Amino acid sequence: MNILAIESSCDETAAAVVTDGRTVRSNVVSSQIDVHRVTGGVVPEVAARLQLETIIPVVEKALADAKVGWDGTGRDGIYAIAVTQGPGLVGSLIVGLETAKALALAKDKPLVPVNHLAGHLYACLAAEKEFRFPYLGMVVSGGHTEFVLMRGHHDFELVGSTRDDAAGEAFDKVGKLLGLPYPAGPEISKLSKGGDPAAYHFPRAMLDQDNFDLSFSGLKTAVRQTLAGRKDNGGRDLAKQLPKKELADICASFETAVVDALVTKAVRAVRATGPSAVLLGGGVAANDRLRKSLTEKLEVPVLLTPTEYATDNAAMIGIAAYWKRDEALSGGERFAVSADPSLALGRSAKL
Ligand code: KG4
Ligand code: ZN
Repeated sequence: MNILAIESSCDETAAAVVTDGRTVRSNVVSSQIDVHRVTGGVVPEVAARLQLETIIPVVEKALADAKVGWDGTGRDGIYAIAVTQGPGLVGSLIVGLETAKALALAKDKPLVPVNHLAGHLYACLAAEKEFRFPYLGMVVSGGHTEFVLMRGHHDFELVGSTRDDAAGEAFDKVGKLLGLPYPAGPEISKLSKGGDPAAYHFPRAMLDQDNFDLSFSGLKTAVRQTLAGRKDNGGRDLAKQLPKKELADICASFETAVVDALVTKAVRAVRATGPSAVLLGGGVAANDRLRKSLTEKLEVPVLLTPTEYATDNAAMIGIAAYWKRDEALSGGERFAVSADPSLALGRSAKL
């Protein structure tokens, strides 16, 4: 069963064809990074306009790469159209959702609205032959940092989340202080490789609290204070002006603080919820230090998102949609779906 999936929640325009929730037949991602680099972050209005320009060619390429057409619902056709309903930037979401609705009407296909965060978690599950619920899901991205208990397909309970910045946002903001290009996560990760993670002691907030919440805004402030005495503080070229070793030490110490906080709370959340495995999804799931530390410290297996599906893409939406195919919408109900910029993944857990 082929599902055509569309994802447009932020600054990536993406489409994919996925078979039976496991085999990715095509995965096209058009990134706006070069445009947003100029402003040092995503300008929502600009992102939505670019989504509009790119969406149709991206969908056409996903169909061509997968060598499928619209006709029929079998091997060479499309059974349903999946699309991200939220959360995300409303203007960007609307472009993907309205495109999916229009295609569903024109090509007479069912529509499967998908939560973007569920997509990040399902990206960890594509290779699983059998599902062993419950899983503890960690969504660690630029917009979200959440622990969720996944009790069944598309059945999530919120266990904890960040009180302020998301982990990816912390990477991006610290990158901005250092004058690194947006998004700074991959860059900081690269620079930190030769650094000493104990050179600076940056705070790990909320670890003394008996909950599964996190906070990263104090960490960003601590990095800003560390940089305060440096030449050209906050200037565009700070990363180039700092001695290489010092830059590597700051990056390694910062990255380690983020990873320590995430892993410490993950260990506690596993003990409290008893999952069969932990799922690590979202853009920051591409981070090597996080992948390694989580795998070493957890008492249960970790199912890591394959790195190529960690940052935003539509394959993850197609995988998630397959496990929701019985809820596919048809007829007029397809057109009642609207974009929800703050769509929640699930109810709050009672632990
Ligand atoms: O999931 P994603 O593509 O978009 C959202 O849904 O937010 O995540 C993007 C975030 C950015 O903040 C980016 O800096 C971060 O993921 N990121 C990383 C790495 N690769 C991407 N952070 C740390 N290390 C990485 N290797
Ligand atoms: Zn995402």
